[in-house]
Amino acid sequence: MGVAEHRSFEPPARRPGRGLPPRLRAVAAAVPGGARSVADVGAGDGQLARHLAARGLRVVATEGRPGPFARLRAAVPRLDCRLGPGLEPLRPGEVEGIVLAGLGGHRIASILEASPEVATALDWLVLQPQQHARQLVEWLRAAGYAARATTAAQGRHSYTVLLVSRHERP
Ligand SMILES: C[S@@+](CC[C@H](N)C(=O)[O-])C[C@H]1O[C@@H](n2cnc3c(N)ncnc32)[C@H](O)[C@@H]1O
Repeated sequence: MGVAEHRSFEPPARRPGRGLPPRLRAVAAAVPGGARSVADVGAGDGQLARHLAARGLRVVATEGRPGPFARLRAAVPRLDCRLGPGLEPLRPGEVEGIVLAGLGGHRIASILEASPEVATALDWLVLQPQQHARQLVEWLRAAGYAARATTAAQGRHSYTVLLVSRHERP
């Protein structure tokens, strides 16, 4: 499967999400327009999860450890917050897609690899690796996913955002 590169990301003007930092705005912009449900895995302070819920998506927000989970739940008490590593808090097919943002590329790959029943039931994945984006793209390709890459700028940093489509089941 090919990986298309789209450089010089332009954040959408006059659209929801302008309160988000540019990195998360780029992640939010990659979530498909017609999406109805999403899990934000490793949701941190819940900023993106709150934004996606305001867009009308049913959102599950997860954190892997009790401390960050308690902070997440305090930040977004009305959302469906779940505790557990990676995709473990999810049942196969209960959300259309996931967001995994702000983690390293190797960790993202190992999260997907650890829960094949959940991962292969997803229609789409929005991945924003903090490092090792190229290695993640290679892993995705070898694992049967198709990825389209966007580069977003935030100050001096640039971030790769990948929109990954359905896993090709054998
Ligand atoms: C750098 S923060 C990014 C937060 C948010 N996703 C963002 O992009 O702003 C990474 C978050 O992922 C969580 N995390 C790390 N490994 C995880 C795992 N295996 N499962 C669930 N959450 C995890 C951390 O607790 C942390 O809150």
